[in-house]
Amino acid sequence: MGGATKSILIVPFFGQGHLFPCAELCKHISSYNCNSIFIIPSHLSSSIPSDLHHHPSIEVVRIESSAETPPPDATHGDWPAPGPHHHHQLGQGIESFLSRRFENAQPAFVVMDVMMNWSKHIFKKANIPIVSFFTSGACATAMEYAAWKAHVDDIGPDPARMLPGLPESMALSYSDTRRRDRRRHELGGGRGRGRGRGRGGKGSDGTNLGPPRLGQHTRWMDETEGSTALLINTCDGLESPLLKYLTVQAEMPVFGVGPLLPGTFWKSIGSVVHDRDSRPGRETNYTEDEVIQWLDSKPGSSVIYVSFGSEVGPSMEEYDELAEALVATEKSFVWVIQPGAGRPGPPASLFGERAMSDSKKGGYEPCGLEERVGNRGLIIKGWAPQLSILSHPSTGGFLSHCGWNSTMEAIACGTPILAWPIRGDQFYNAKLVVKYHHVGHMVPGIDDPLEMVKKINIIQGINLLMDDGEVHYRATALRGIFDGGYPSSSAASIKALVELIS
Ligand SMILES: *[C@@H]1O[C@H](CO)[C@@H](O)[C@H](O)[C@H]1NC(C)=O
Ligand SMILES: *[C@@H]1O[C@H](CO)[C@@H](O)[C@H](O)[C@H]1NC(C)=O
Ligand SMILES: *[C@@H]1O[C@H](CO)[C@@H](O)[C@H](O)[C@H]1NC(C)=O
Repeated sequence: MGGATKSILIVPFFGQGHLFPCAELCKHISSYNCNSIFIIPSHLSSSIPSDLHHHPSIEVVRIESSAETPPPDATHGDWPAPGPHHHHQLGQGIESFLSRRFENAQPAFVVMDVMMNWSKHIFKKANIPIVSFFTSGACATAMEYAAWKAHVDDIGPDPARMLPGLPESMALSYSDTRRRDRRRHELGGGRGRGRGRGRGGKGSDGTNLGPPRLGQHTRWMDETEGSTALLINTCDGLESPLLKYLTVQAEMPVFGVGPLLPGTFWKSIGSVVHDRDSRPGRETNYTEDEVIQWLDSKPGSSVIYVSFGSEVGPSMEEYDELAEALVATEKSFVWVIQPGAGRPGPPASLFGERAMSDSKKGGYEPCGLEERVGNRGLIIKGWAPQLSILSHPSTGGFLSHCGWNSTMEAIACGTPILAWPIRGDQFYNAKLVVKYHHVGHMVPGIDDPLEMVKKINIIQGINLLMDDGEVHYRATALRGIFDGGYPSSSAASIKALVELIS
């Protein structure tokens, strides 16, 4: 290719759902004659995929951060980012790294997770072009914007409101506009952690009240102001009309660069993925081999996989209903229970080891469940090899909160989804899955944010999903867009990005 090798900075956000996609993006960018510099706070350096450390054109730079960052006070702090003091320390670390390292030649650009908005001024000051990266899908970003433009406050109970420029199936419903985080009522007044995935408008108490109100910008418009381009963890095959919509509206290049799944996934398309290499050092009480052996003993498409990811989940009471539903369905299941599950507040994993071990006390415990279901259920405490489970032929459905990462993993494995969204963007992801692609169902009754989800709803949902041949057929068909590996449209986007900036 010739020419000088360019340096590109990548600044991920701290959550696990953000680190991994950023790390994969780093690898993709590095294949275009670029050196990627992955900037992380030092306390996270053990949580990134190990192959990043050995990659010839990727450098991992650890910025000193105090490991003893206290979990933020429930009423202040910008969750999930640990408080202003932490920002200040990290910010200084990044600045001094930049001035040490780039005395003469500037980096070509910085790819910044939109949730790192607080660090934007550092790169602006250094005159480094900023490319904003969304680990979430195009649908949430586009729907928020469209809702803002359409003044959703005018929407009544019926019918759903078509949003100009967006597919009919993504029409905004009354409940979309009235929605609050499902967990909000439980968290109580001002304690609601509205930051969520940075979605939607803020109420006077700072909580997330669903789409922005009249005349109120969506958060991402602020966060991407002055950016050169937007990168989104999606691809044409999944969200083409939504990407096109954003390109028109944002008035800057918008590139779909996903799905940013681990390299092991692309290498084992069509067979069971082995997750362990890309996910070092996670605590769990079953090995990947044990999980696969258990799945091997079950008939094809017979197992429902239940997991809410590491950042959000149902309430304690809803976990009880879920346990009773799993007993009652008589279907085989794998249920992953994260440490601290059912407890309100931000995930402890963001605040270092000490908060992690504190959070293990008092999470949901499925007391006596194992005895009641016997070998029909596998209950995993801690981390689960999600891609192995989703890609296993015995798995026939996924009860999921529809976090974007989990949504893409399910789609890429051809596993239909039973959607139980908890907060902002997850409702839009669920709409994409259920209404646009028809590869899943909603848990019945989920649209009412004030009602908790009941055992009967969950049983209905599981039966609906597992017994629906049509949905299974469509999920298999949609998976076909990844038969050739990492999408060529996304590879072309990364190439175009590198060319655009140089
Ligand atoms: C993002 O950062 C800019 C300054 O760099 C600030 O003006 C803006 O308010 C921030 N936006 C959000 C949503 O935090
Ligand atoms: C996606 O989320 C699941 C559940 O939180 C986690 O197990 C998995 O490692 C994540 N994958 C990526 C690529 O971040
Ligand atoms: C793993 O943890 C779950 C939930 O606490 C428990 O039901 C199960 O028996 C544990 N399995 C093993 C092998 O320790």
